[in-house]
Amino acid sequence: MSPSNLRQRYEAAGQAHLLKFWDADALSEAEQKSLADQLEALDIERVNRIYKKAVTAEAEAAAPGAHDPIQPLPKDASDSVKSGKDAEWRAIGLEAISNGAVAVLLMAGGQGTRLGSSAPKGCYDIGLPSHKSLFQYQAERIARLQTVAEQEFKKPAGSVIIPWYIMTSGPTRGPTTEFFAKNSYFGLNPKNVILFEQGTLPCLTMEGKVLLDTKSHVAVAPDGNGGVYAATRAPLSPADKSHTVLSDLAKRKVLYVHAYGVDNCLVRVADPVFLGYGIQKQCDCAAKVVPKSDPTESVGVIARRGEKFSVIEYSEISKEQAERRDPETGELSFRAGNIVNHFYTTTCLNKVEAFEEELAFHIARKKIPHVDLETGEAVKPAKPNGMKLEMFVFDVFPFTEHFAVLEVMRNEEFSPLKNAPGTGSDDPETSRRDLLAQHKRFLERAGAIVKDGVEIEISPLVSYAGEGLQSVKGKTFTKSGVVGELEELDALV
Ligand code: UTP
Repeated sequence: MSPSNLRQRYEAAGQAHLLKFWDADALSEAEQKSLADQLEALDIERVNRIYKKAVTAEAEAAAPGAHDPIQPLPKDASDSVKSGKDAEWRAIGLEAISNGAVAVLLMAGGQGTRLGSSAPKGCYDIGLPSHKSLFQYQAERIARLQTVAEQEFKKPAGSVIIPWYIMTSGPTRGPTTEFFAKNSYFGLNPKNVILFEQGTLPCLTMEGKVLLDTKSHVAVAPDGNGGVYAATRAPLSPADKSHTVLSDLAKRKVLYVHAYGVDNCLVRVADPVFLGYGIQKQCDCAAKVVPKSDPTESVGVIARRGEKFSVIEYSEISKEQAERRDPETGELSFRAGNIVNHFYTTTCLNKVEAFEEELAFHIARKKIPHVDLETGEAVKPAKPNGMKLEMFVFDVFPFTEHFAVLEVMRNEEFSPLKNAPGTGSDDPETSRRDLLAQHKRFLERAGAIVKDGVEIEISPLVSYAGEGLQSVKGKTFTKSGVVGELEELDALV
């Protein structure tokens, strides 16, 4: 496109200020080219549409009576791992894994701004004795589960594969790729670890004008974890436009997908119990939840809104609703804490495209570094000055056909890494504490005694969820250590 056509397009879209430094002769030829390339590739008309829709949707949502009233989850669409059916679900899920019908989808495109680390969150060392990263834990859980499925379903060693699709974003793709390569994919076959990239959107002023982060570059941000759906349809490489995550799933004959966020050190990747639950209930989509700890916890809950399932943000729930309890059980009526942990059929993932246009982006008002258009100076704002537009992965729930919720125990399955070290909640120290406490429980449940103060870290390659530790029965552990193979436990007695 010629520079004058580009200008016309941006003028018509009300975004011609992006060419301000070009007009002022403040750009070198290389900078002009790079800006022109970026502006040409940007669908600026779509950005304007998304902005308008996001602003309208936000205003409508805030209007009184905008939504149908919320109701607690119906009993037939929710269950708990404490129901006694977990062994049955596990068998169903593990069989699907053993048949190669399961894949995992990791959302690792977030920028982890609260944590404050420059590397992707999955590379983070939460201070475990082994210093394994979150990515390594997840990789080893996949490896172990493949082995468990082979053993329990009498398949040849190495024959069961759980492909791992990892969504990255502009900021996380390079470092994530390098981290996996440097660590030899943590023992997994690189053919079965598929990295892909979510989309980005420009950052906007509060009035919807696109911001520049340098004189020749538009400020962009990942389009939210809900960008995962569009990203599964995008080519995995420019060389082959027909090869996408969805086509890859189809080629591998995958029927069920477990999707999760990168920052939960306790995540049961490809959890056979959850998969079995979703399969048995014939869900097209399901969500794992943890019980809300108390009425004031700031977590979104899954509930019914009219005829549909939705995530209700904590700010949308009245005090009376938050405190309401089920008269039979005494439990909170709205308690299904949403933890970004979903089951999908591949059929369901393929259907998202049909209704995706109906979903509105959410507005996140943030401090966005940018270049001042008048002075050309770099500005680092002290308070929110603009907006990022994000899609949420759970916004598809109301559109699914057969949805259900599985409640799991928080101490076994959820300890997110959100905040910087020393914050006191959802930080590296709480992640470390919760993971090591779980390993202690694994040993105790297998019949061992672990002396106070003893810290034993058990590799996921030894045990995925506490299984396979029968040999510790009756033993007393008196020494701390890292266990990479079952036999190494003996040295800690
Ligand atoms: P969060 O909403 O907690 O964001 O992501 P974050 O990037 O980890 O942290 P902050 O808010 O910047 O501090 C929940 C999950 O969704 C993924 C994250 O990687 C995490 O696994 N995510 C988020 C994406 O994959 N893409 C995005 O654009 C945003």
